[in-house]
Amino acid sequence: MIKNAFKITLFTIICNAMIAINAQETTSSKAIETKIDQIISSLTLEEKVAMCHAQSKFSSPGVERLGIPELWMSDGPHGVRGEINWDDWGYANWTNDSITAFPALTCLASTFNPKLAKDYGINVGEEARYRKKDVLLGPGVNIYRSPLNGRNFEYMGEDPFLASKMVVPYIQGVQQNGVAACVKHYALNNQEVWRDKINVVVSDRALHEIYLPAFKAAVEEGKVWSIMGSYNQFKGQHCCHNSVLLNDILKKDWNFDGVVITDWGGAHDTKQAALNGLDIEMGTGTDGLTSSKKNAYDYYYLANPFLKLIKNGEIKEDILNDKVRRILRLMFRTNMNPNRPLGRINNQEHLDIARKIAGEGIVLLKNEASFFPINATKKITIAVIGENATKPMTIGGGSSELKAKNEVSPLDGLKNRFKNATIIHAMGYASGPSAYGRVVPSSLDANKLKQEAIEAASKADIVLFFGGLNKNYLQDCEGGDRTEYKLPFGQDELLNEILKVNKNTGVVLVSGNAIEMPWISNVKAIMQTWYLGSVAGDAIADVISGDVNPSGKLPFSFPKKLSDNGAHSFGELSFPGDGVNEYYKEDILVGYRWHDTKKIKPLFAFGEGLSYTTFEISNLDSDKKAYSKDESIVISGNVSNKGNVDGAEVVQVYIGKLNSKVARAEKELKGFQKVAVKKGENASFKISIDAKSLSFYDETTADWNLEKGDYLIYIGNSSASISKKIKITIQ
Ligand code: NOJ
Repeated sequence: MIKNAFKITLFTIICNAMIAINAQETTSSKAIETKIDQIISSLTLEEKVAMCHAQSKFSSPGVERLGIPELWMSDGPHGVRGEINWDDWGYANWTNDSITAFPALTCLASTFNPKLAKDYGINVGEEARYRKKDVLLGPGVNIYRSPLNGRNFEYMGEDPFLASKMVVPYIQGVQQNGVAACVKHYALNNQEVWRDKINVVVSDRALHEIYLPAFKAAVEEGKVWSIMGSYNQFKGQHCCHNSVLLNDILKKDWNFDGVVITDWGGAHDTKQAALNGLDIEMGTGTDGLTSSKKNAYDYYYLANPFLKLIKNGEIKEDILNDKVRRILRLMFRTNMNPNRPLGRINNQEHLDIARKIAGEGIVLLKNEASFFPINATKKITIAVIGENATKPMTIGGGSSELKAKNEVSPLDGLKNRFKNATIIHAMGYASGPSAYGRVVPSSLDANKLKQEAIEAASKADIVLFFGGLNKNYLQDCEGGDRTEYKLPFGQDELLNEILKVNKNTGVVLVSGNAIEMPWISNVKAIMQTWYLGSVAGDAIADVISGDVNPSGKLPFSFPKKLSDNGAHSFGELSFPGDGVNEYYKEDILVGYRWHDTKKIKPLFAFGEGLSYTTFEISNLDSDKKAYSKDESIVISGNVSNKGNVDGAEVVQVYIGKLNSKVARAEKELKGFQKVAVKKGENASFKISIDAKSLSFYDETTADWNLEKGDYLIYIGNSSASISKKIKITIQ
């Protein structure tokens, strides 16, 4: 009787707490913390421990007797993944789990438009909510260090400032649905090869200046509710239970009050998991309950072994309570928040926003003699060549794979838009089926495919070659890196053959990575279109037809050859390491920082991207020439659109220190603004930069250090195209 009364009381406390929460209310509010304390004091040790580890592939348990719900997670970051079986990685084959696939995060980064990142977050968050997910596993902000990394397409490029500016609104957008974003993979997971064990050796300076800022912004500005540890090691400890990364930096320095979740199978030790900042263990072993004792959920590191150490006094109960407090806080923000919106899925608005992001993210890299746009009213013959014109790209790639309700292929997108043209298609090359962790060669006759393509090209007025990578294993896919920088499946050779019969050829690249382009001077145009999700073909047709004027900018450099990339120029110890350690020898000089400082011209530079109009950036000035450390530097100027179509230019502000006492990159991105300008018109802009953001991370004091003296401000429309330099002084 007494027991029952207690049960009812506690249940009432939880229900009341849930009703008391307002969706907008910050969950650090005292009232909720008090409720959390009450709940914790009512939970048994066993119940608390159970909350710290998985009960299925993608959920962790609640407490049935008290009505505390289970926590449901799903892969992102480009949409909500199809349902996975309870105990294994197989798809559950539900029929109500198809979704909208949004463009890959590389595309989002290329928009240089934080407002679109917010829209992205809101929309994907709505889908997650509709699918009853509490945690969306994304976005990813690992820095693009090498063009070989198999998962670059899931991240936001090579620049920490750009990634920070884009990740914050994405998180805010997702979380306004009462769904937690889970920023990943913290930290230094910059390759797939040996990802489960490689120990990254990196200077504290590069760590803080390059690899951590986007995570820091996610926590401090985005107020992200959860974070995923990475598989790799740092300072000899796995990052999912790494005392420096989790206890010192994340929880102490950045005051993170959310939940640290392992990457699936990223925990390796009970004491470390308990003491080094991990809160929820997921994915250990592969068979869940069904197979051995070793893999069953009760035998996870944060399950029975953890309970045992608490019971015998080796680990204090407070350690457990802190984890449970964080988990309950996450629940009050998500599945115990009665005011969270309902979400929606597969609606026209989601497709529209996906198409807008895709259109703004596509980057026009070369456009000789105005090859693009192609006039859609003309009665011409267009040969669309290449497997990537028809291959579904929401499938494959690993955990970010999606079950899109619809996916418009580039070929279909072009056919819909170019109704007056005769469109002929030839596959040209074949990659073989996508298989997890394996390369399965195509059984098609390569020579025949090539001949068909050459024949199609020879009959056409215009050739559009759709190539690139394709999310097959080793071609932009989790679990493996690319093995070469050039295009796979004989595409270079095929393209050369096509160019022999038709010089009027443009290349449309579908990939999440830079590639080598030995044919660059022979093709008329190059368009980088990423993986664009449900409406890929429509968005590509929008830009090819000129319905949308391209305004995307590269979020990473395209080196001419692999050894021109900083990480690769130091050989294998620097990338991918020796299987045990990997030394980030290029240090802070990642991406364009390397190209600029070492004077190695890239094929295409960070921030580069053409438009169908021309812009002039003028009247550039700073509000002052000398600043104190607490001031903002305001750069102003004008963008004029000199052409015949409306468009948008991304003004980029880079800053470099003159005569620094430490090694520095020539310049670093510190501000940008996408400015829309109608044809023939002008628009003014102002970009404000905190003087403090010019600090370097000083390893001697383990703190940020703003050097006094002269700085050079570079303003332009890419890292390699600077309209003006202005010298300023920090006093
Ligand atoms: C491993 C991946 O690294 C991670 O990004 C993903 O969220 C989990 N698997 C779950 O699928």
